[in-house]
Amino acid sequence: MTLRTFWRAAAVLALAAVCAACSRGSGDTARSFTLAVIPKGTTNEFWKSTHAGAVKAADELKGKGVDVSIVWKGPLREDDREQQVQVVEGFLSQGVSGLVLAPLDERALVRPVEEAARAGIPTLIFDSDLASKEIVSFVATDNYQGGVLAAREMGKLLDGKGNVLLLRYQEGSASTTFREEGFLDTLKKEFPNIRIVSSDQYAGATRDTAKRASENLLNRFGPRLQGIFCVNESSTAGMLLALQDINRAGRIKLIGFDSTQAFIDAMRAGQLHGLVVQDPLNMGYRAVLTMVDYLQKKPVEKRVDTGVWMITPQNIDEERSQVLLKPPYQKYLGEGQ
Ligand code: BDR
Repeated sequence: MTLRTFWRAAAVLALAAVCAACSRGSGDTARSFTLAVIPKGTTNEFWKSTHAGAVKAADELKGKGVDVSIVWKGPLREDDREQQVQVVEGFLSQGVSGLVLAPLDERALVRPVEEAARAGIPTLIFDSDLASKEIVSFVATDNYQGGVLAAREMGKLLDGKGNVLLLRYQEGSASTTFREEGFLDTLKKEFPNIRIVSSDQYAGATRDTAKRASENLLNRFGPRLQGIFCVNESSTAGMLLALQDINRAGRIKLIGFDSTQAFIDAMRAGQLHGLVVQDPLNMGYRAVLTMVDYLQKKPVEKRVDTGVWMITPQNIDEERSQVLLKPPYQKYLGEGQ
């Protein structure tokens, strides 16, 4: 065999190996992946920004010659455990390179995720914890710290004294449970003269269920309340509507979580006094980049913290605040989203 023939044969074998790796969708030479990106739900604005971040990462990777197809699918409501399990199982039978999942229940999604791992399909968790170690990485806000920020702002707003109510979100939702714990722990430790008059009621998965829970709480405790904390978008929206209906918006200090135009308007109208915000666009972006690094057998961080901030009437017009309050998701998802 001449040297020329030898090198030609070697090149052909190398090309075959690369194609095989590509078709498997993994390995350090893989250049093509299909990722299932599964939010907790598709009702809250928050998820549009995470979707935009995933698309932003795929666009950037394409520019580097790595073809990532994002398949976005989630349940309508964030309390539909069965639906999210079915979505995950559907992707398993379809066959994808990896799952990028925000579990709406930290236990209900363990079985399908561990089934996926056994089938060779890795899962990266974003936004809300999962009670399993069989994951690539956890990309999310430090939600406990989000609750700490809310408690400290409440302490400032009430000058360290008064009656406060916590509206919880949903049992099984790890992200919001950590916010609730951070809030209660910090009030107890740092603000002994603030009394928590109620912390055992749940808003449920929609703005309407949140509004009904809020109305009940305001009927029971409203006359003697100085402060309220709500731990996510739909809960904050429901409480704000309930306060507006009885003309008490602005008279009780309200701190919410996440951002919508209605919350920005309410803050400017003096009806919302603090808003804990995350960086959902960066969360979706880092989640996809981290999963692709894993699939290409590069080192990945087991925990990626995407940050948490308190927006107030005093800092709302700062540039950083504006970007966090209005993530440019249309830039990646197209207008009309
Ligand atoms: C909310 O649920 C949480 O898991 C997200 O971080 C967001 O705050 C969306 O409903």
